[in-house]
Amino acid sequence: MRFTSKLPDVGTTLFTVMSRRALEEGALNIGQGFPDYPVDPRLTAALHDAQLAGHHQYAPMEGVPLLRERIAAKLAASYAVTVDPLTEITVTCGATEALYDAIQAVVGAGDEVLLFDPAYDAYEPAVRLAGGRCVRIPLAPADFRYDWDRVRGCLSERTRLVIINNPQNPCCSIAARADLDALAALIRDRPVSVLADEVYEHVVFDGRTHASVLAHAELRERSFVVFSFGKTLHATGWRVGYCVAPPALTAELRKVHQFNTFSIAAPLQHAIAQYLGSCADAWSALPAFFQAKRDLLAGRLRGSGLEPVPAAGTYFQLIDYGALDGGRDLDFADRLMREAKVATIPLSPFYAVAPSMTLLRLCIAKRDATLQTAADRLCEFAARAAAR
Ligand SMILES: Cc1ncc(COP(=O)(O)O)c(C=O)c1O
Repeated sequence: MRFTSKLPDVGTTLFTVMSRRALEEGALNIGQGFPDYPVDPRLTAALHDAQLAGHHQYAPMEGVPLLRERIAAKLAASYAVTVDPLTEITVTCGATEALYDAIQAVVGAGDEVLLFDPAYDAYEPAVRLAGGRCVRIPLAPADFRYDWDRVRGCLSERTRLVIINNPQNPCCSIAARADLDALAALIRDRPVSVLADEVYEHVVFDGRTHASVLAHAELRERSFVVFSFGKTLHATGWRVGYCVAPPALTAELRKVHQFNTFSIAAPLQHAIAQYLGSCADAWSALPAFFQAKRDLLAGRLRGSGLEPVPAAGTYFQLIDYGALDGGRDLDFADRLMREAKVATIPLSPFYAVAPSMTLLRLCIAKRDATLQTAADRLCEFAARAAAR
């Protein structure tokens, strides 16, 4: 049978390809963003309790009410905001589903969506499936600052959505409140919504605070803000996230959600609700937890020739291999895979048009022993490469 692919150029994601190659090469995988350490035992106990309590049938479409209440309490504690759990919070299958639903809810045929490169890979396919077109604005290494004049020049009558990821994967940078002010001013008189991907909200370093779109009154009125329990509870495989948006936007998002996943696994939702109730500030330890991991990895690599780039947040640490090799990042990542037995993620595939750069992304959400082994292998590789 003949058919036309809707996404002819989309293959298996880079993360899956690199993870598969890591297995084949017997390489240590510190490319893909998932923890290799256990979750809090209180979370697994809560899941056990939820199963024994008989939560095995469809959960409500919007999410278990108690979980949505606890999410509202968490948001109040984090950002001093009042969010209505009934009309403004929807529990989704990871942040990924929330991103997809939000895009389908507001983007139509011929619409334009502004996003910033290097961009997380889930955005563009969802925009294209909705019939829209991405206008990709590059953030240039090494500081990856937003160029708001350039954004102004990219806005058009067709712009319907701006996607902003903060803290930013893979740049490891964070947006300041002034960036949100600039965005708000640019779209003030336009029919443009915002999709804020804030899955790394609690992974910010060196005493910085996360500037959530939720705490920006003007932006909040037109925004979908997306969070991930996968990241916050170290449980990416649970696939539980949520979207916060004003009632009118939430109503549109739910129209997509109800025919996409309908509702999210009931035992998982009850378990998270119980966990948030008894460990109400479990996430407050996250900045220090991840900062120690960043410092361990970056500290070991500094001076090796694989130079850590200053990182303000996220699960990741960029390294610059320019002192050792001026070649393409895809080739260098391949070389590290084969010669150092370490799997990393090159940055260029996150760009529509990649600038010239020599950067790779490493994941810090790993046990200290994993990070130490990875750093040892990378340092040995760098010493051999420099001696050649
Ligand atoms: C920037 C960003 N957004 C969204 C996601 C997806 O989150 P989830 O696993 O909750 O679907 C990720 C996962 O790596 C991410 O890095």
